[in-house]
Amino acid sequence: MEIKKANRLQGTLTVPGDKSISHRAVMLGALAEGKTRISHFLEGADCLSTIDCFRSMGIDIERQGEEVVVQGKGLHGLCAPASPLDVGNSGTTIRLISGILAGQAFESTLTGDSSIKKRPMKRIMEPLSKMGARIESLSGNGCAPLHISGRKLTGIHYQSPVASAQVKSCLLLAGMYADSPTTVTEPFLSRNHSEIMLRQFGAELCSSGTSVTIQPSPVLKGQDILVPGDISSAAYFIAAACLVPGSEVLLKNVGINPTRDGFIRAVRAMGGSVTCVRESFEGEPCADLLIKAGPLHGTVIEGSLIPTLIDEIPVLAVMAAFAEGETVIRDAAELRVKESDRIAVMAENLSVLGADVTPLEDGMVIRGGRTLRGGKVFAHGDHRVAMSMAVAGLMLDGGIEIEGGECVAISYPGFFRDLASLVA
Ligand code: S3P
Repeated sequence: MEIKKANRLQGTLTVPGDKSISHRAVMLGALAEGKTRISHFLEGADCLSTIDCFRSMGIDIERQGEEVVVQGKGLHGLCAPASPLDVGNSGTTIRLISGILAGQAFESTLTGDSSIKKRPMKRIMEPLSKMGARIESLSGNGCAPLHISGRKLTGIHYQSPVASAQVKSCLLLAGMYADSPTTVTEPFLSRNHSEIMLRQFGAELCSSGTSVTIQPSPVLKGQDILVPGDISSAAYFIAAACLVPGSEVLLKNVGINPTRDGFIRAVRAMGGSVTCVRESFEGEPCADLLIKAGPLHGTVIEGSLIPTLIDEIPVLAVMAAFAEGETVIRDAAELRVKESDRIAVMAENLSVLGADVTPLEDGMVIRGGRTLRGGKVFAHGDHRVAMSMAVAGLMLDGGIEIEGGECVAISYPGFFRDLASLVA
C-alpha cells in the first residue's frame, strides 16, 4: 500500500462502529432472551470472528438491512461447538468468550491466527481457575489454543495486576455463571463498555473507583444497540487533520466515553485543535469532532491516561515525531503484548523515516521536529501500525510504502478509501 504526501485534508466522515462495543453487543445479544438489533455494527474481521464463534454455538445472527440481528437464547442457551472456535486475530473475542465458556455445561477449544497464539492468556486463565474453571493452554505456554471444560463457578474478588478491559470483562461474564458475586479491582480504570452494556441488558453491577461487582444469574433481555463511531478509528483522521497544514475535518458521531477519550486529551495537551461540536447520548456518550491543523509540541503520556488511549499510542508516536520537542510515553508495557510488539515495531518504523526514537521497556521517548523522509515500512500484521504509518506518509516527501497494509481490515476495512476521500 502506497500513501502519497497530502496537501490538505478536508471534509466530513462517519467512522465505522466501535470495535469493543460491537463485540460486546453480539456476545450479550447471544446470552439474552429475545432479539438484539445492532445498528452501525463494525464489519471488521475481528467482530466477524465473534459472530462466527456464536453461530458455531447455535446462535442465529443475520444482517437485516442496516442492522445485525442476534436471536438470543438466554444465559444457558448455547450449544457445544462441533469444532474448535476460531477467533482469528481477535484478543477481545478469545478473552471475553473464555469467560462465557468457563460457565457452560460443555467443553470447547479456542484457537486463532499466529499472532493470537503468541498473546498472553495466563491473565485470564489464572483468575478463571480461581473461580473453579478448568482452562488449559494446549501448547503449555500460557497461550492459545485453549481448552475449556465448562462448570459451575464460584465468585471471587480479583485484584488484577493489569488495567485490562479484556481481563475485567472476561471475569464479569464468567461472574454471571457463578454462585456468588464477582468483583474485579484494577490498578487504573480500563474501558467500561461491558459494565454499561451489561446494565443495559439487565444485569446488576455496582462500580466504585476501579472496582466493579456483578451479581450472578442475571436475566438478560435483548436490546436495540446503536454502536457509536470508534474513537480508535477516528484517531487516524484526528492525527492526520492536526498534522497536514490547512486541514479541517468533521468526524460525525464518535464515541467519547471518558474511559476511551484519552487520545483527545493527549492531542489537546500537544496543542492540537479538537472541538466537540454536538454531543449526544445513546447508551454511550458521542460527539461530532471538528479538527483543525496547527503546530504541535511534545507532552508526557503516562499513568491513568494510558488505558484510556492504549490503542492510539502508535498514532500518537507518529504525531510526536512531527511535533516540536520531546514526547515521553511510559507505563505502557502492555504495548509489547498487543497484535505486535508496538513499542519495537513503531520505534523501528519511525527510525526508518529518520525520526529520533528511543524505545523504553514500557514506552518510548520521541524527539520531534526532524525533517523525515519517505520510505518503506512494515505493518507486521498489525492494523493499528498500518494505519499509523499511513498517517505519517501524508506528511512525507516521497510518501510511504506499507508492506502488509491490507491488515487494516481487522478493524477498518474501508480505511484507505475513507482516507483518500478526505485528501483534497
Ligand atoms: C479491548 C481492550 C484493550 C484494547 C483492545 C480492545 C476490549 O485490550 O487494547 O484493542 O475490547 O476490551 P486490553 O484489555 O488487553 O488492554
